[in-house]
Amino acid sequence: MQALILAGGQGTRLRPLTLTSPKPALPLAGRPFLTFMLDWLARHGVDEAILSCGFLGEEVARVLGRSHRGVKLRYVNETEPLGTAGPLRLAADEGGLDDRLLVLNGDVLTDFDLSAQIEFHVLKGAAATLALVAVDDPSSYGLVPTAASGEVEAFLEKVADDPSAAAPPTNRVNAGAYVLERSVIERIPPGRPVSFEREIFPGLVGEGLFGHPFDGYWIDIGTPERYLEATQDLLTGSVESTLPPRDDSGSLVLPGCATEGAEVGPLSVLGEWCTIEPGARVARSVLHRGVTVGAGAVIEHAVLADGVTVGPRARLGPGAVVGSGARVAGGAQVPAGARIAPGTLFAAPTAPDGRRFPPVPSAEEGRA
Ligand code: GTP
Repeated sequence: MQALILAGGQGTRLRPLTLTSPKPALPLAGRPFLTFMLDWLARHGVDEAILSCGFLGEEVARVLGRSHRGVKLRYVNETEPLGTAGPLRLAADEGGLDDRLLVLNGDVLTDFDLSAQIEFHVLKGAAATLALVAVDDPSSYGLVPTAASGEVEAFLEKVADDPSAAAPPTNRVNAGAYVLERSVIERIPPGRPVSFEREIFPGLVGEGLFGHPFDGYWIDIGTPERYLEATQDLLTGSVESTLPPRDDSGSLVLPGCATEGAEVGPLSVLGEWCTIEPGARVARSVLHRGVTVGAGAVIEHAVLADGVTVGPRARLGPGAVVGSGARVAGGAQVPAGARIAPGTLFAAPTAPDGRRFPPVPSAEEGRA
């Protein structure tokens, strides 16, 4: 079976992380994010994935290569963004697509039963079958009510955008995983951006468009909050994966890290070659590769990209995201939710006792 993965978006909500790494290649629990999706696809019989790339496409190809655990990888690059359906038309025009294939949003971490969705699609003789996931608050999503037969009845705009709208008729939303027949691809106009959600699927209602609800893990990692949530769910095993064992704090510390005298955990990830100096604390956070955290610094519920340096006794508030190669000066207090651009220096001299750069504690002081 073939799958086309949409991997060409700019990932603006994940900036500054996505200023230097495309979302599909971002490390999640120490591995390029898309490898989790490829593992899941392989478990459901996918043997070829076509990666539809645009923004930083060369980097996606460099990180993922030509195959992943038996799944052959092929790349289709667009010169300008074609939206969610346009890339499929481009891939079809380049040739080599099967008559039936899967199409996936490339920013979803899930373990739902894709084989059951494919079986349902075949049984119904559907033109397209969408995976539907139940969410707690459906008001900020497009809703997809279905009849008892599974046929999609409508695509409803976000209720949150229309204060006069009635209560949502369903809490099932489009999960970004479709089984499609070639007849659907032929409906996509060539050479311009086209949206499945706004153009193609509404036009298919009543013409073989089905929804397949599932119960299982599903999250879109497109914001820093959800990226952290997905990391913690992987660490705790709430979603099926092949992660290496975690330590007693539920954290994953990759080879080459030095953490003696520091407190790492709970539920944190240290990429390769991180150094956490004595007395520093890293909790519920993700550090990519080669991050250095100075003595006595505190990092909580934050994400630090490759090569970030945090000076001694600095503090990063919850939700802070630091871009690749940025530096946080010793003693600085990074506010909650702050975004620090790649390669910049954050140097707010606000140590509680007024000292600009507090001295590094000795190893003994750090362990105390
Ligand atoms: P935001 O800018 O944060 O909204 O992220 P995004 O650019 O990834 O957009 P969104 O989350 O809506 O995209 C859903 C999926 O479609 C992601 O996997 C994107 O990589 C992909 N995608 C979005 N736009 C395009 C596009 O124009 N071309 C291709 N090939 N993929 C796209």
